[in-house]
Amino acid sequence: MKSVKLTVNGIERHFIADEDRVLLDLLREDLSLTGAKQSCDRKGQCGACMVIVNGKAVLSCLTKVSSLDGAQVITIEGLGTPDNPHLIQEAFVLAGAVQCGFCTPGMIMASKALLDTNPDPGKEEIKRALRRNLCRCTGYKKIIEAVQLAGRFLRGEITPDAARPSLKEGIMGISHPRPSGLAKACGTAHFTADIRINGALELAVLRSSVPHARIGRIDSSKAESMPGVVGVVKASDITGTNILKYLRADRPVLCGDKVRYIGDPIVAVAAETKAQAEAALTFIEVDLTPLPVLDSPEASLAEDAPQLHDEFPNICLDQPQIKGDAQAALQESAAVVEARFQTQINHQAPLEPEATAAYWEGDPAADEDAKLVIIGRSINIHYHLGMLQEALGWDNMSYREAYSGGQFGIKLDIISEGIAGAAAIHFKRPVRYIPGLTESMLMTSKRHAYKMDVKLGADAQGRITAYRNDILVDKGAYYSIGHVLIMRSLLMLSGSYHIPNVDARARLVYTNNPWGSAARGAGPPQVNFALECAVEMLADKLGMDPLEFRLQNSLKPGQSKSTGRVVTEWPLPELLEAIRPHYGRAVEEAKNYRNGPVRRGVGLATGSFGIGGPGDVSVAAVELDPDGGVSVFAAAADPGEGNDSMLLQLTAEFMGLPFEKVRVHTRDTDYTAASGPAAGSRITYMIGSALLDALSQLQSAMNETGAKNSDALAVAGKPSRYLGRKRNEDAGPLDPKTGQGPSFESQVHAVQMAEVEVNTESGEVKILKMTAAVDAGTVINPQNLTAQLEGGLDMGVGYALREQYIAGKTKDWISFKFPTINHSFDVETIIRETPRPKGPMGATGVGEMCMVPTAPAVINAIKNATGIWICDLPATPDKIKARAAALQQEK
Ligand code: FES
Ligand code: FES
Repeated sequence: MKSVKLTVNGIERHFIADEDRVLLDLLREDLSLTGAKQSCDRKGQCGACMVIVNGKAVLSCLTKVSSLDGAQVITIEGLGTPDNPHLIQEAFVLAGAVQCGFCTPGMIMASKALLDTNPDPGKEEIKRALRRNLCRCTGYKKIIEAVQLAGRFLRGEITPDAARPSLKEGIMGISHPRPSGLAKACGTAHFTADIRINGALELAVLRSSVPHARIGRIDSSKAESMPGVVGVVKASDITGTNILKYLRADRPVLCGDKVRYIGDPIVAVAAETKAQAEAALTFIEVDLTPLPVLDSPEASLAEDAPQLHDEFPNICLDQPQIKGDAQAALQESAAVVEARFQTQINHQAPLEPEATAAYWEGDPAADEDAKLVIIGRSINIHYHLGMLQEALGWDNMSYREAYSGGQFGIKLDIISEGIAGAAAIHFKRPVRYIPGLTESMLMTSKRHAYKMDVKLGADAQGRITAYRNDILVDKGAYYSIGHVLIMRSLLMLSGSYHIPNVDARARLVYTNNPWGSAARGAGPPQVNFALECAVEMLADKLGMDPLEFRLQNSLKPGQSKSTGRVVTEWPLPELLEAIRPHYGRAVEEAKNYRNGPVRRGVGLATGSFGIGGPGDVSVAAVELDPDGGVSVFAAAADPGEGNDSMLLQLTAEFMGLPFEKVRVHTRDTDYTAASGPAAGSRITYMIGSALLDALSQLQSAMNETGAKNSDALAVAGKPSRYLGRKRNEDAGPLDPKTGQGPSFESQVHAVQMAEVEVNTESGEVKILKMTAAVDAGTVINPQNLTAQLEGGLDMGVGYALREQYIAGKTKDWISFKFPTINHSFDVETIIRETPRPKGPMGATGVGEMCMVPTAPAVINAIKNATGIWICDLPATPDKIKARAAALQQEK
């Protein structure tokens, strides 16, 4: 122990601290200064914990309290508050650099340390200062711009008031700051791990280290006698079904009979502190009898393969898609290309680890109907609440969504919530389950790996004639959204193009690999990678310009997609024309780098992404308030996309209200309408439309009665609350034999261009610039739109070049190869607005589209630079180097 005096945010403090205690824990636990976050198991990899000590930005997770005697410490809370923010905090909000906000306090502290010593830093100096800070949402562009804007504020060149859009400029199409921006920038937005609960037990969970085994004896007696341990929870202690059923009842809260992948949970230990729970974990003995490991879809489909789930065959789905006669058309084609494409299992990589807090309203020991409140990061709180009630056998529950540090599909499934809830019920106490990064990676769903055998043909005039794609998808151990993934792949199989003949088959197969679920795009990024690379190969074979080839084959209104559905709008050609001058410039520039080991290339890819799935339904409620303002009630999670802004701006515009009179409530099952998941890029299109329906009902009542507030409406005998609905007319599944049938109600379109530099000796690829032309309908908030595009491009490049999840090996942000600010690249976005007839005020959605064309654009650019096709993602330096060497030998 050591006696340490230090000053935190101007207040002198005195602590007696363990030699090993780190500053992050002291700030968060002893001083409740939870603005500093942790994302990397205190390994110094994320920068979310950054604070300033004696004028320097330091990682508080690596800074020993014992070394800080006499130190001056400043945390994010010491800079400003939402009512009185620091200029740097204002700059981050106004530059649109705050999305989920989990990285933001650390980013701001690193920026402050820089600007304190260098008031006018250049881009490279900013990158150097922020090199230790990770962000998954923004792609770093707006963060660099925020630091530049902060510099201008601090130098007195411009004020925040001058930079802030005014209501006089209008509401729609204006980049009004997101409502949660300042709370996130000032560290007052609470994420789940920031929430302390008096008397809460802390959990640690024993997980399988093998991919397939039968569970025998579990001996927890030693662990249960350890200091602070209250007990353990096993599958047999759970009184509900113990199954977290999304679409199929196959994933247990805790495994009882078998483990089916590396990371499956077996036993939870509850103790008074997390350290005690973790210490006890090592004393639990579990007999695991190894079972044959099905490590690929092919292994699972073998005749003698064991069945992974007793109730379900290994093949989850086998769905064909037949349009016209592809076989005959391919035979008659003037040119045909053929290739196998593969994509990797990938982690969605939100910066915030999984976390759940659970507490009781009422005393569960005395009252069987006490209410269990689960706090977590769900993006589908009502549906997940039902899953928890069934799995845990407790009816009186609520789900509250805390601020969420990104999700990108990972929270379409609940994970830690089940275990925390089970422990809370078992011990009748509040519980916190705050796993670290490695455990979060183990427990969560992943992006599915695809294998695709493709043939694409065209006639002598360069018109695509036919497409075959035999798709084999690794489902991993559990079904989750299962067939939805396959349907999305087939609904968008033909991408942006008119393809008259299609013969596809998509098979989804259980394996002992990590289980797949939603992951930004979920299906279309994989199939579009294959299609767009094949399109490039075919243009190459025909000797046609890739842009002209795409333009010629673009779908047109009146033509049909691979599902047979005829489209009525298709503004893709305009986007290709918009990118044409950029493409011409890039191709000319790349010509100067055609010889030598370092070469430049240009690649194009398109994407046409469905919005508003067949049969999708959503609701939103609105209520007129006593002061004439409007409250919106919709479970529209906003883990960073800007959904709060969308609800706010649509309501203010429709009702003619100032922002302060619009109150948006989205986070609690107790008072929101069940609006469906914040997934599939559906929030703006579906919930925005339901909101407008509710608002128009309210406005009709107000017009009819002349009422201006809820009291006046009541006097007139009218309700003040209205429920709006949005139901897509096209509904039902694809035909099981032909894959023909209903489709999405709208689309968002994009063309992306990658400019790359490839070192053929080292295999390294540098992205010089990404250009994205997008038509997402009417733009509600341009800054939120470009923020999605920039972040999506960054994620798409990571998917193309680096990222991969390997069970048992990918354990942190270094082994995951998380994209840093040093990987960031120039981005240019071109926005076109074709209002969508059925979208809210003409809008669609864009959250997933922004990465759908990215990987093929990058791979096509690598081919353009080097002549090498990388058909299996990621395109790592090793692969490129090996293929460049092989190509050299062939010559
Ligand atoms: S928690 Fe300190 S760097 Fe990640
Ligand atoms: S805003 Fe940076 S991680 Fe989300």
